[in-house]
Amino acid sequence: MELYVDSANLKEIRHAASMGIISGVTTNPSLLAKEDPNQDIKTLLLDIHASVGGHLSVEVVSTDTAGMLREAEEILKWAPEATIKIPMIADGLAAVKELNRQDIPTNVTLIFSATQALAAANAGATYVSVFLGRLDDIGADGVQVVRDVAEIWDMNDLDALIIAASIRHPIHVMECAKAGAHISTVPYKVLMQCIKHPLTDSGLQAFLNDYNKMQSEKEKLGTK
Ligand code: G3P
Repeated sequence: MELYVDSANLKEIRHAASMGIISGVTTNPSLLAKEDPNQDIKTLLLDIHASVGGHLSVEVVSTDTAGMLREAEEILKWAPEATIKIPMIADGLAAVKELNRQDIPTNVTLIFSATQALAAANAGATYVSVFLGRLDDIGADGVQVVRDVAEIWDMNDLDALIIAASIRHPIHVMECAKAGAHISTVPYKVLMQCIKHPLTDSGLQAFLNDYNKMQSEKEKLGTK
């Protein structure tokens, strides 16, 4: 399962990219709104893409098919490698159908059920983003939806890539990998939690302490 970072913060994205663990970035209007309002969004998104390469999802804000297609055309002028992120609504599906006809990649977002994912795949989506954390937030089982989608994909040989999105913690990442998601788009904080373990830190500290002890004993014996 590939990892993307779900962020619009350049510092976080650059750090995640420097560790070599991510192969793409997803953003959305809410993530962009958390950043400096004086920042030009196009410049920010281009900087993000230059830092990571790979996948960059850029979301439209229109809610009608014609508006989404206009926005997609505009986005592709300044970010030709962008994947156009389209909301999972009827007009969105029509936009996906048309963009697919033009060979333009799409990421259908705000998917909360297996039937929505199936509809998006049939419309020609390149990626389907299942928002599992928000399902857990309302007391439903988000990972089960990812599992259902992956099972349907296997049985029907569907091509769209399943993105596990709205990830809340490392266990979500592990469960989505086991459930069969192709990609998990993970907030920076959770990525950092994923690579950390207290036994790694205490183990490293013990190695360093023992090494330093050995060095000072050698110094004392004059055998350094
Ligand atoms: O990738 C989807 C994500 O940005 C939504 O996450 O935390 O707002 O549910 P969240």
